[in-house]
Amino acid sequence: MIKKWWMESVGYQIYPKSFYDGNNDGHGDLLGIYKKLPYLKSLGVDLIWICPFYVSPMDDNGYDVADFYDVAPSFGTLDDFKKLLNKAKELGIRIILDLVLNHTSDEHPWFMESRKSKDNPYRDYYIWQKGKSKGLPPTNWGSFFGGSAWAYDEATDEYYMKIFSNKMPDLNWKNEKVQDAMIDVAKYWLDLGVDGFRIDAVAHLARAPFVDAEPKDKPVVLDWHKFSNLPDVHIYLKKMYQKVFKPYDALTIGEVGGEANIESAYQYSAFDSGELNMVFNFDHNWCNNVFDIDNLENLKTDVKRLKEVFNKWQVAFKQRGWLPLNWLNHDQPRLISHYGDQMYPLESGKMLATALYLMRGTPFVYQGEEIGMTNYPFQSIEDFNDVSSINRYYDLKRENKYTEAEILFKLSINSRDNPRSAIQWDDTKYAGFSKVKPVVNVNPNYIEINVKNNLENKGSLWYHYQHIFKLRKDPKYKELFVYGTYEQVPTSDELYVYIRENSAYKAYVINSFSRENVTYKLKINFDSVLLNNYENILINDDIITLSPYQSVVLVVKKEQL
Ligand code: GLC
Repeated sequence: MIKKWWMESVGYQIYPKSFYDGNNDGHGDLLGIYKKLPYLKSLGVDLIWICPFYVSPMDDNGYDVADFYDVAPSFGTLDDFKKLLNKAKELGIRIILDLVLNHTSDEHPWFMESRKSKDNPYRDYYIWQKGKSKGLPPTNWGSFFGGSAWAYDEATDEYYMKIFSNKMPDLNWKNEKVQDAMIDVAKYWLDLGVDGFRIDAVAHLARAPFVDAEPKDKPVVLDWHKFSNLPDVHIYLKKMYQKVFKPYDALTIGEVGGEANIESAYQYSAFDSGELNMVFNFDHNWCNNVFDIDNLENLKTDVKRLKEVFNKWQVAFKQRGWLPLNWLNHDQPRLISHYGDQMYPLESGKMLATALYLMRGTPFVYQGEEIGMTNYPFQSIEDFNDVSSINRYYDLKRENKYTEAEILFKLSINSRDNPRSAIQWDDTKYAGFSKVKPVVNVNPNYIEINVKNNLENKGSLWYHYQHIFKLRKDPKYKELFVYGTYEQVPTSDELYVYIRENSAYKAYVINSFSRENVTYKLKINFDSVLLNNYENILINDDIITLSPYQSVVLVVKKEQL
């Protein structure tokens, strides 16, 4: 059996702008992360993924990088980062960074050169094409952030490709100089002492031939097949693996959007892939009707689908690879608002944590998830900062089909600004995030939902997360919960039950996704209840009656079976 430190780790994702403001200028920063390391340690975290903090004009909050080798002043300095890294090492916490390979900022010196003239040495670092005809881009491909995937540049009368925002020109990975330059970037941070990378938008490094997407008569079609999971991506990643990831033994987790299926996920991250260690997929992120409703009360999780998705990935990766386990990241709604139940936030929140983080894989908690933070109550377009939300607002306005309130509702349920509001540390002004007015939103519910309250109450969500991670680290159960097998048990739709098993133990992870009491028949003499989000567990003969969103973990010693 393959065993690695990162399989035994508990990960935590930090979006630095909204995590903690260490120098009280209203902006989250590296010093803030440094100050909160002991907090993360006490939760059980020993691996942090930090979203970009490189020099950037911040069109996409740092995913638009203008200098891969330095820290944006709003986040601090390179010395702050070194200090953070040292302290983390002292505490036994490893750090991985976001490696943005697909694009740079339009303010990156390479692009500033590239756009100057067709014969500039950097021209070929990016993807330039002539327009189809006057005023028409080379193809009708749409971009993830709205509008065309091409932007016109007057200086040379050509278009550059940009599958995200206009200020994020796509790098041309066919160019070996680009490949080598990005290998150098990765080496630089590994030499400084980071342990690896979450690789941004990695699925998109190669493009299909520049032929219009169907329907061809539509001016803009977002067809991500044109730039997702194409064969050349694997050539580039194999080279990166040989030149940098392997020699440094770096941990690599690729963000694989655009409908990664199991086969392509194997290509990226099977143990023998020679590319990456894991991939984040998005199959489980939208298993509800969030896009179809006009009233939050109608939001409903499709538990059957969610179970199918989890099962599909767990089964596919049981021998051939390893998975990260995450409910959300900085691009998705807050967990409690998305899959939780507003009437039972604590119970449903604890159940969701149990259900996911005892699977086989490496947990990645998204900042604030552990205290039950919720979506932000947006009132107007001024409350949004995310470029894709703002673009979508204007696109919907242009459609002329919806009222202002309807547009705001559509944006607010899945806006990427939801997970980016300030972390709620306590109930003082600005949620204890900063002493001055923060540059990010502060959810008014910080008075009740905050870290301090969670830590003062042993029954809080926070302690439940801590308990789960203790189980994963407990010398007695580590083999079971980290390396044991996973098997889903067929049940009614509102129940999600799976078994983790190793040579010594068998654990039943039993989760109810229902607001009603539900019963589950289980014919075992379990030894102990390892986890329960209620005080009691009601068992009569072989029948367990689960309260709303109850989840219990029962364990049996195998010699007793
Ligand atoms: C990834 C990031 C997202 C970013 C995009 C472009 O999807 O998660 O936040 O906007 O890549 O870099």
